[in-house]
Formats: sequence, structure tokens, C-alpha cells
Amino acid sequence: MSCISEYSDSEQDASFERINPNILITGTPGTGKSTLSELVLESTGLCYINVNELVKEKGLHEGFDQEFQSYILDDDKVVDELEDAVSNGGNIVDYHSCDLFPERWFDLVLVLRTDITILYDRLEKRGYPQKKITENIDCEIFQVILEEARESYSSEIVIELQNNTIQDMESNASRIEQWVYNFKAQKNQH
Ligand SMILES: Nc1ncnc2c1ncn2[C@@H]1O[C@H](COP(=O)(O)OP(=O)(O)O)[C@@H](O)[C@H]1O
Ligand SMILES: [Mg+2]
Repeated sequence: MSCISEYSDSEQDASFERINPNILITGTPGTGKSTLSELVLESTGLCYINVNELVKEKGLHEGFDQEFQSYILDDDKVVDELEDAVSNGGNIVDYHSCDLFPERWFDLVLVLRTDITILYDRLEKRGYPQKKITENIDCEIFQVILEEARESYSSEIVIELQNNTIQDMESNASRIEQWVYNFKAQKNQH
């Protein structure tokens, strides 16, 4: 594995002792979480955890919701499955919700936002059923994920990022790379 995951020598369980950060990239489906995550993986050296894929692969769900065409997550199973990897640090976690994860896991929580018309096109291109498109569009209009992130994590670590265009994506990627660089530089001074 090319990504790094290690503790500093001192306290093994304290989040402030992580020498590599954990970043949560969240936002309504279609806002570009997976594309942005993959774009920064190599440059940051972080490991990628796509929660949707993991849920499918390991069966961490309570069945499939036909109406919304999505898995019904078993939150406890997901958290248990991720605990070891995440507490080691050095991960990007990609998921369209955020209140199921323990607060101590993350050093940075990015909430991607996309204009409604752009998001609508992206979801339509995915071939989502109308019901699922409407549900996700409403989620974005009412900034459900942003509110959830603000309720679940400390306000200093929650950042809203517009992600409408390729230029936005590139600037978001640079911002993440710079943030990771600064985080590591700061940890290495101690
Ligand atoms: N910043 C962006 N500008 C233009 N298109 C984008 C941008 N981010 C993602 N996309 C496109 O939008 C679609 C959804 O992106 P994806 O990363 O799969 O979203 P998510 O993982 O949040 O559901 C993909 O087709 C992707 O290529
Ligand atoms: Mg995705």
C-alpha cells in the first residue's frame, strides 16, 4: 500500500497524536466526493476509504432499499470495520453522511456543495430514478449534510467547499494538499 498510516511514539489513542491526518469528504451524492478524493490520493499519500464500496463489499448493511436504490447501512458494523484503520490516521473517508462517525476520528471535515442545476444534471446522467434525484436535490437545497457536519464536529474543522466546475475541483485539491502538508509539518516539529 502506498499510503501511510502510523502513530507517533507517544499516546497511541489520542487524536492529537496522529502524525497523519484523517479527512472526511462528505456532501450530497453527486457533489464530487469520490472524484476529488481520488485526485488528491497520490499527492497526499493518504489511504482512501470509500464507505459505499466497503459497505457493498463487506455486507455492512441491513438490506437494499428498492425505492431509493441504496443500501440501508448498519452504522455499528461500519464504525467497527473502520475503527482500526481510522485510528491509525492517514485516511480520506468518502461518504454522503457524517453523523455516524465518532467525532474524534477526523482532523478535517470537508462538505462539498454543488449548484442545484449542475447537481441535477450529474444525478440524471447517473441514471438515478426520479425519486432518488428529488431526494438528493432536496438534501442539497436544505444543506442537510452541512448542518449535520456542523452538529457533529467542531466548527473549526468543518469547511464548506463549492465544487461546480473543474477549476473548483483543482482549487479544492490544492487546498487539501496544502492543508495536509501543513498538518504533517506541524506534527513533525514536536
Ligand atoms: N468539480 C467538478 N466539476 C465538474 N464535474 C464534476 C466535478 N466533480 C465531480 N464531477 C462529476 O460529477 C459526477 C459525480 O461525481 P462523484 O465524484 O462520483 O460524486 P460523489 O462521489 O459525491 O457521488 C461525476 O461524473 C464526476 O465526473
Ligand atoms: Mg462517490
